[in-house]
Amino acid sequence: MEKLRLPVLLGTNRKMRQSVHAAKWLIGEMQKRTDIETRLFDAGDFVLPQDDYGTRIKDLFPEWRDAITNADGLVIVAPEYNHGYPGTLKAILDLLLKEYIHKSVALVGVSAGPWGGTRVIEAMVPMVRELGLAVTFTDLNFPFIQKAFSDEGKLLDSAFEKRAQGFLDELIWMTRALKWGRENLPSRHHPNQAL
Ligand SMILES: Cc1cc2nc3c(=O)[nH]c(=O)nc-3n(C[C@H](O)[C@H](O)[C@H](O)COP(=O)(O)O)c2cc1C
Repeated sequence: MEKLRLPVLLGTNRKMRQSVHAAKWLIGEMQKRTDIETRLFDAGDFVLPQDDYGTRIKDLFPEWRDAITNADGLVIVAPEYNHGYPGTLKAILDLLLKEYIHKSVALVGVSAGPWGGTRVIEAMVPMVRELGLAVTFTDLNFPFIQKAFSDEGKLLDSAFEKRAQGFLDELIWMTRALKWGRENLPSRHHPNQAL
């Protein structure tokens, strides 16, 4: 079966960020699978203008624009900042709009505390919905992230391996269903498929 294109967005540019370990480890798990093609987009690599915003500046970020245009879905790794998502993550997502429509998104929450980013995931759901993304219901949560990985990014708790497979299985299912729909069902939201 054709590989599904599922880029991963790491949603913080903070210097000491721990969520980079979760994102890189998940990329490794995704690359082990024959049904996924992925790559990491790092919020730290986006130099966002101070005086403009949104889809009008998307051509400043052609790699991101083209990757999402060609993607079948997306994984977002988000640290929880004051029960919300980092502003940088939102600014990156807001660069595009129609490119997301009827594609899947799976959410990874990361926190220093015990709830594993549950609140940042809940905060993201209405936001990604407005982008036209269809969110999966099997999240991946990293509570106490500082204990989940070594300083070098080695996973310290093998329980995450099984959780990641469940998370990816659900993402694959949703992504294939939506891909079939985009390719077979007319929608006023798809180019050349006006109702
Ligand atoms: C501005 C800011 C706000 C934060 N708010 C929360 C929070 O609401 N809940 C929580 O569990 N951890 C919170 N944290 C801690 C992060 O979850 C923690 O740093 C974790 O490692 C994930 O973020 P990181 O990738 O930036 O390291 C906050 C951290 C920052 C920098």
